[in-house]
Amino acid sequence: MTHTDATSDRRPLVIASNRGPASFAVDEHGEVAARRGAGGLVTALIGALQASGGLWIASAMSEIDREHAGSGRIEIGDPGARYSVRYLAFDPGEFHAFYNEVSNRVLWMLHHCLWDAPRTPVFDAATTRAWNAYRRVNVAFSEALEEEGDADFLIQDYHLSLAPAMLRARRPGARIAYFSHIPFAGSEHFRVLPRRYRLELLEGLLGADVIGFHASAWAENFLVDCRELPRATVNLRARSIRWQGRTVRVGVYPISIDVEALRAESREDAVDEARRRVEAVAGGRALLLRVDRAELSKNILRGFLAYERFLERCAHWHGRVVFLAQFNPSREDVPEYGRYMEECFRAVDAVNDRFGRGDWRPVTVSYGDDFALAIAGYERYDALLVNPVFDGMNLVAKEGPTLNRRDGTLILSENAGAFPELGRHAVRVSPFDVEGTADAIREALEMPAVERARRARGLRAAVQRNRLDAWVERQRAALRRAGAGPG
Ligand code: ADP
Ligand code: F6P
Repeated sequence: MTHTDATSDRRPLVIASNRGPASFAVDEHGEVAARRGAGGLVTALIGALQASGGLWIASAMSEIDREHAGSGRIEIGDPGARYSVRYLAFDPGEFHAFYNEVSNRVLWMLHHCLWDAPRTPVFDAATTRAWNAYRRVNVAFSEALEEEGDADFLIQDYHLSLAPAMLRARRPGARIAYFSHIPFAGSEHFRVLPRRYRLELLEGLLGADVIGFHASAWAENFLVDCRELPRATVNLRARSIRWQGRTVRVGVYPISIDVEALRAESREDAVDEARRRVEAVAGGRALLLRVDRAELSKNILRGFLAYERFLERCAHWHGRVVFLAQFNPSREDVPEYGRYMEECFRAVDAVNDRFGRGDWRPVTVSYGDDFALAIAGYERYDALLVNPVFDGMNLVAKEGPTLNRRDGTLILSENAGAFPELGRHAVRVSPFDVEGTADAIREALEMPAVERARRARGLRAAVQRNRLDAWVERQRAALRRAGAGPG
């Protein structure tokens, strides 16, 4: 094995996640082309692996992925910044149960508090079957990891919650870190999940030596949840858990973005054309922007309701502001997502019908995988709305201020993992508070120039202070310490 080695004791880096750095699709010329995978995990890990080299094991997520990436290793990157990717291919039905039924419809909903308790969730025989598939896919990942020999294993996210303990059983001395890119449900909410699943999840995670979260709130929830395990000793202050003769460390490692890479992307030709598209929408008016996966947890619907309320109360903004909402399609096989986005689009029509006049269209929606447009929007916004119900981190809140050229204001949910780092430079919102979000939109758009500039500087500095390469290195250092002796 020849992965680049960045640690002092020379173990290679092996990352495992469901989604890999690229997915395959047929492009406009009918050719199969690799596209960057969606979401913050991919954005962050590409940067991290380019810095350290290593192997990334991921699922082939579609038929075309399975055909084009289903076997062997693919080398990615330039000389000097190379890493390899190995895709695991699963039976489509098995993968659907693992990804859509358990990961997206159970675990994602659980940790982001997205259920509607009188009606959902319902755990039944179908859940049992899907959970068995979830378990089998985790087994397959743990087998693939084991084949890599001695390494620093970095297992990513809720799709692979069981893999740490499975790998530990195969390789008791392995150095295993697990990182959750999403929130972790607090104890009362966690109890929506049946006890057998709760215990299996916690025991699965505790196979790791180090368990990382983006924010201390999620780490604390996890520690408290672990108190339910009969034989675990949880030390909240030390953020550690004694479990099966080992000490598991819980750490807070807020992820960042690769600022240089993002700036380089903003110099691509495609962004020039996207700038013209954004200007055609804005037409010289103030721009309120949002950029998200088309995702329930991003709180898109309340964002439109708040904008409608803002327009209702602030007639002096009529004709002077445009809301550009960009959505990257996501999880289209999950019915809740389709229904939710339809509701969001109806809310957009309602605002446009009610307030639009002449050439002023109050909201424009872009729906598609269009990173160039996201970049052009970042540069141009006057206010960026990031109001998730709950979010592990939210990288849009970091990318926007990094590229913005107008001292634009960030409106940020207090329940985003990015809030502890960025909140004091942002306009804070409680995501369920539509009235308060309408106030925040007004405050953001009417903030005096000096204050806007001060906050924009603060945001840029906060993002730059937290370097992405340090994110992986801090976890590897924690792994080395964990291996050095009992806690
Ligand atoms: P999540 O991980 O939940 O999707 P984040 O905000 O952390 O949320 O990360 C989203 C990532 O996807 C960001 O890097 C963002 O720039 C990128 N992105 C957002 N919209 C698009 C789009 N339309 N096309 C491509 N990438 C996008
Ligand atoms: O960042 C959280 C995350 O869930 C990642 O785990 C995931 O890759 C990303 O958002 C996008 O979701 P999906 O992979 O389901 O499209």
